[in-house]
Amino acid sequence: MMIEELKKAMVSALDAVDVEIPEGFQVQVEASADLRFGDYQSNAAMVLAKRLRMNPRELAAQVIEVLDLGGLATIDMAGPGFINFRIQKETWSRRVGDLLADDRLGVPLACPAQTIVVDFSAPNVAKPMHVGHIRSTIIGDSLSRIARFLGHEVIRDNHIGDWGTQFGMIIHGWKTVLNESDLEADPVAELLRVYRTVNALCGDDESVRETCKQELVKLQSGDTENLSIWEKCVDLSKQGLQGIYDRLDVSFDYWYGESFYNDRLAPLVDDMLESGVARVSEGAVCVFFEGDQKLEDKPTIVRKADGGFLYATTDLATIDFRVEKWDADQIWYVVGMPQQLHFQQIFEATRMRGLNPSMHHVAFGSILGEDRKLMKTRSGDNVQLVDVLDEAVERAAMAIEEKNPGMDSEDKKQVAAIVGIGAVKFAELSQHRMTDYVFSWDRMLSLQGDTAPYLQYSYVRVRSIFRKLEEGVVLDGSKLVIEADAEVHLARMLVRFGETVPSLLDDFRPNLLANYLLELAKAFHSFFEACPVLKSEGEIQNTRLVLCSLTSQVLQKGLGLLGIEVPERM
Ligand code: ARG
Repeated sequence: MMIEELKKAMVSALDAVDVEIPEGFQVQVEASADLRFGDYQSNAAMVLAKRLRMNPRELAAQVIEVLDLGGLATIDMAGPGFINFRIQKETWSRRVGDLLADDRLGVPLACPAQTIVVDFSAPNVAKPMHVGHIRSTIIGDSLSRIARFLGHEVIRDNHIGDWGTQFGMIIHGWKTVLNESDLEADPVAELLRVYRTVNALCGDDESVRETCKQELVKLQSGDTENLSIWEKCVDLSKQGLQGIYDRLDVSFDYWYGESFYNDRLAPLVDDMLESGVARVSEGAVCVFFEGDQKLEDKPTIVRKADGGFLYATTDLATIDFRVEKWDADQIWYVVGMPQQLHFQQIFEATRMRGLNPSMHHVAFGSILGEDRKLMKTRSGDNVQLVDVLDEAVERAAMAIEEKNPGMDSEDKKQVAAIVGIGAVKFAELSQHRMTDYVFSWDRMLSLQGDTAPYLQYSYVRVRSIFRKLEEGVVLDGSKLVIEADAEVHLARMLVRFGETVPSLLDDFRPNLLANYLLELAKAFHSFFEACPVLKSEGEIQNTRLVLCSLTSQVLQKGLGLLGIEVPERM
């Protein structure tokens, strides 16, 4: 990695200069935002000079004096003491040659590799998976792919809500308003109808609410009839969900839902009482966070006065299991912002219990409709994920029909699925996860904008160059002559792939990869306009073909890390 080498050289140069380096001082080297100042830039001399009360330009000059880059780059100073590096053309040629030989495309393995449990998607049984769950599913899947590619042991666990209070209503509805043949035809839709019907009845009628409560109590105390209804609902829901995950190309290693932990809740609470982590307050068992500024006045209940357990209790039991059984070093929860307090509480309670995996709430904002309000259907219901996917694929099919009417109809179908679903995923992943983003069909499917179809089309365009070549070109990474500005810029972007991917996990930001890929595609299009490929010859053609080939590989790999496929034609 270029950045690492530059950092190392900077560290040795600072060592060689006669100054006292403060404990914990970190040398920063970053890709330059403005290429007029070179490819990479370091503010280390300025930061250090400030700490040591020295003149920053003087210190920078001393560092440059002894900095030995072995011909990697030229060095100069700018402004108040920035050190700028301009990579030599021969260096680019060598680096691009290295990339061609590297099946990881320059991305280093993480060291040390860790065991990471990614808790994502986690919809609730018998309630539909709506666009809010789409964010968790898409972000969680992408983060899992990135972590796995970096060499971590990743465990994808779908912690579905299969034991909530909704089952009181569903069981009552199952016994009174269920339509068997509709259930057979479309189980998820029928379960949802049942749930909605009873939910509406509950609103008007105290006695219905009471009946539902009784059904829930019976379920929780092991009534066989209710348990068997519950089991059927869970199975049917899982099958429905699996269909969606297949379309999204998302998979899980486990589906340990909330019910999986039922037997562990009572002993857990006893243990917490015994160790003093929890105590009884007004009949309930609570964890108080004395001395914690954020949580001081926000205790969490782990057992209600009536003996019932809560969402938090299950999550605490889940952490125990993940640490004991899987030896998890890290646990990532990809869950919306509204659950922030819940996660702060269970993380703190877990630390109080003496467990210390590294736990992160990977939060995200909402999806808004074009009116900038929470996205809803015309009738005011939550938009369902399946409908979003159907519409995306349908719109993509129309666009393909228009652009490429001659394509074989099986291919058209396949490409429409790749493009439509890719568009939905990219619209999500190209945003900072915390922003509330506005869902816009036209914007996400455009071939010109910052979209998946634009990147997929760029990929197709590169691949078509190779189809036009006579058979049997052999690319030679040892004979590269990167010369023209557009070639240099494309080379620079290709080398940045290896620097970008590891940084994505620092703050769980796949959007940095999405943005990187857009920049890469733009660099490719400028290169393709400025530098003829098919009409060039010899070493120049070999160089340009290597750049093209790497561009297609990085686009494919990068989109793959976002969970997005590429078609060969579109
Ligand atoms: N089922 C929950 C919901 O839909 C999300 C669960 C997230 N994971 C967890 N371990 N709490 O809100």
